[in-house]
Amino acid sequence: MKTQVCIVGGGPAGLLLGHLLRAEGIDCIVLERQTGDYVLGRIRAGVLETVTVDLMVRLGLDARLNAEGEPHDGFCLADGERLIRIDMKELTGGHVVVYGQTELTRDLMEACEDRALEVVYEASDVALHDIESDTPYVTYLRGGAEQRVECRFIVGCDGFHGPSRKAVPASASQEYEREYPFGWLGILADVPPCNHELIYANHERGFALASMRSASRSRYYIDVPLTQSVEEWPDERLWDELALRLGPDVAPNITRGPALEKSIAPLRSYVFAPMRHGSLLLCGDAAHIVPPTGAKGLNLAASDVHYAAEALIGYFRQADNDAIAAYSDKALARVWKSERFSWSLTNLMHRFPEHGPFERAMQQAELDYIASSRAAQTAIAENYIGLPV
Ligand code: APR
Ligand code: PHB
Repeated sequence: MKTQVCIVGGGPAGLLLGHLLRAEGIDCIVLERQTGDYVLGRIRAGVLETVTVDLMVRLGLDARLNAEGEPHDGFCLADGERLIRIDMKELTGGHVVVYGQTELTRDLMEACEDRALEVVYEASDVALHDIESDTPYVTYLRGGAEQRVECRFIVGCDGFHGPSRKAVPASASQEYEREYPFGWLGILADVPPCNHELIYANHERGFALASMRSASRSRYYIDVPLTQSVEEWPDERLWDELALRLGPDVAPNITRGPALEKSIAPLRSYVFAPMRHGSLLLCGDAAHIVPPTGAKGLNLAASDVHYAAEALIGYFRQADNDAIAAYSDKALARVWKSERFSWSLTNLMHRFPEHGPFERAMQQAELDYIASSRAAQTAIAENYIGLPV
């Protein structure tokens, strides 16, 4: 078949982009390796910046987000002794919306039929061809038969492990990477949250995060060494550890319940540059990873998609090649700032095995400074609500 844009990957980045292009009458197809149910089974963060909410509003797909999403005006950093509240609304006038990535993905998926966005699920062996030409194409297998999609552009929205990034020659690209010596063990449970806002805690036993999906569903995390497995953390042990790390003021408010989901995710900072090579554009986790501290992953994917849609619409409406050429620099400028914020909040809130008394003193001094300085709190708040696109 022939189309204008072939999107590889039907996660939030691929579906958002597909809808934005269809809304402008641009032909596209989304190729997804998994089933729709599998995609919806992945539990990811749930904090939306304005850029993400605005795209859903622009698409007219914000009804459930409006009804069920919870605007949050602040969040807390706990330093073992006190809670430092970052009042995002007062400091910046902005806020974030707590709404699960799974729910946002579901809203995008459910609108596909109505909006004539074609998504091919269970597309295996997806391969990109001739990306340096103006006539690239993608091949894949469906039900054992090879299919071929000819297009003008391919957009790789296929996450960190997808084939798109790998299609760019190493000689034309650069990777930047930082791995962290711990992972986040997360638990999802149908219990009310312990606090009406998120709490990120740096305790001598390690990191903890109290988050939520709704008034009756909570999401908590602790950091654990990468050598540990979920089996070592039966629910009760995890609840005990959360109570210790979140501290005596918060612990009595924790309601325990059976885990609906429990998993360990490694932490990584990663950037691949440039984010365009010939007729291939990369968006979201296909081009970069942030550690989850700060919940930037989905929001960065959304800002990439915003820039990519702008460039592609410019190209198909006005034959504007410059917009395509500018995509990578525009997207990366914002990516690097989110990378910096996620990295710095990770460094501030975790106990690294290689840290000694000096590094610990630096963390304490920084938390002390944040507690006492409106300027420091404002810097954190404006990054947390999301920098402008
Ligand atoms: N062929 C087709 N699709 C593929 C392939 C492939 N070979 N490999 C991966 N995919 C699909 C995955 O199955 C997944 O559905 O690409 C999709 C990528 O989705 P995500 O990993 O969710 O990445 P993205 O859409 O960029 O979303 C941004 O931000 O919060 C973070 O990591 C979190 O998922 C989140 C991301
Ligand atoms: C989550 O609710 O899953 C979540 C919230 C904030 C983060 C990371 C994850 O920084």
